[in-house]
Amino acid sequence: MNILSPSILAADFWRLGEQIEEVQRAGAQYLHIDVMDGLFVPSISFGMPVITSLRKKTDIFFDVHIMIREPERYAAEFVACGADMVTFHIEATEHVQETIDAIRQAGARVGISIKPGTPVEAVLPWLEQLDMVLVMTVEPGFGGQKYMDVCTDKIRQVRKAITERGLSVDVEIDGGVTAENIGIPLESGANVIVAGSAVFRGNITENIKALIAQM
Ligand code: DX5
Ligand code: ZN
Repeated sequence: MNILSPSILAADFWRLGEQIEEVQRAGAQYLHIDVMDGLFVPSISFGMPVITSLRKKTDIFFDVHIMIREPERYAAEFVACGADMVTFHIEATEHVQETIDAIRQAGARVGISIKPGTPVEAVLPWLEQLDMVLVMTVEPGFGGQKYMDVCTDKIRQVRKAITERGLSVDVEIDGGVTAENIGIPLESGANVIVAGSAVFRGNITENIKALIAQM
């Protein structure tokens, strides 16, 4: 089953609680939470206190995407705040095994993300230990960018490697998804789709129904 993971980076933070309730009612299974540190990516978004306060009010699956340097320093804390899955960037650390172990031992699912310029080979040695690979389809750091077509082939490569090894790892894609192009990553082997602007710009319920109708 394919999963829609709306990114709250595009939400109206004044009405964040309401909008999360709407997203869940409309049928989204995950909530994508983008944490940015201003170092690994130029932007700063939000962090632990926001996740903690949301966790008290909703049981939706928290798909936490950490765009931070040295993720091993904070991985367990994100789980303690309520992350169900923590996905970190392979480019952000020299301590990949330590980061995987920290997330796993804290009790959450583990994902690794690769930026558009990072080859798929970078993630392959870790595949057996992962629940998900996140293939970025824009440069991380900002919502509202255009889907990068050059990344489609990477989705295929990751899915192929997972199938060849007989694993059941999810493939998530993140960035530039619209109701017009959502079929491309799905046909290429992605099964978890992040959408920010395409969900939160305009009518959330209608947007989600339009996306899910194609999944
Ligand atoms: C980008 C973030 C994305 C972003 C997606 O760094 O990781 O999750 O919010 O936004 P859209 O769907 O608007 O491209
Ligand atoms: Zn993201």
